[in-house]
Amino acid sequence: MGAITASSFRELKAKGEKISVLTAYDYPTAVLMDEAGVDAVLVGDSMGNVIMGMENTLGVTMDMMFHHVRMVRRGVKRAMVIADMPYLSYQISAEEAVRNAGRLISEGGAQGVKIEGPVVYFGDVIRSLTRASIPVMGHIGLTPQSINQMGGYKIQGRGENAARRLRMEALELQSVGCFAIVLECVPAEVAKEITLSLSVPTIGIGAGPDCDGQVLVNHDILGWGQAKFTKTYVDVRSAMSTAYAVYVDEVKQGVFPGEEHCYE
Ligand code: KIV
Repeated sequence: MGAITASSFRELKAKGEKISVLTAYDYPTAVLMDEAGVDAVLVGDSMGNVIMGMENTLGVTMDMMFHHVRMVRRGVKRAMVIADMPYLSYQISAEEAVRNAGRLISEGGAQGVKIEGPVVYFGDVIRSLTRASIPVMGHIGLTPQSINQMGGYKIQGRGENAARRLRMEALELQSVGCFAIVLECVPAEVAKEITLSLSVPTIGIGAGPDCDGQVLVNHDILGWGQAKFTKTYVDVRSAMSTAYAVYVDEVKQGVFPGEEHCYE
């Protein structure tokens, strides 16, 4: 498959090929992910926690998102670049949502946007974005922008009523035009039922193996992750920590720079 677009997502699901998504916030990371063959790079508002040291994602602004979408865009040739819509960039009105998302597409170079929340709140927003030819990825289950309402980062969709509501929300997001739906922190069985009921793919994070694809936060797979659902593929965090400590020590001891690092 060549360059990945929103319509490729449906094709991948139809073929039964799993979809791989990772978050990236900068150019070199995006280059490596694209070279590795990731299907989509999500410039997630997790950047607030992960690279900016914020307590949650609520402080991420459109300016910040722009800054990072542009970096990622320059690094990607094949993968689809999806930009998260930050808190308050789409909640106020559909008109503002189209203006903000449109700028992420036309000025930032993103090829789609992701918004958190159900159709009952954001149906008009998603319809307006779709009408403006902006591919929208939905996001339900644990939605970190609703942290104050949810009262913590808790698993969602547990129990028959909650599971039924989640299944309904997924169907509604599909019907208003989402090209894919992120399911975050949802019991694996519920995610499986939702996945089987949709023609658009589900992308899971903490939602078990039966979703059509998976998304993880870059730093979580490199040694910073603590959640049960993530996995450390390479412990870059430890490697960096060691490099910094050895560098400091070598400078203090006068070991660095050596002769080989000096000009004649
Ligand atoms: O911001 C983000 O990184 C996300 C993913 C966890 C899905 O929304």
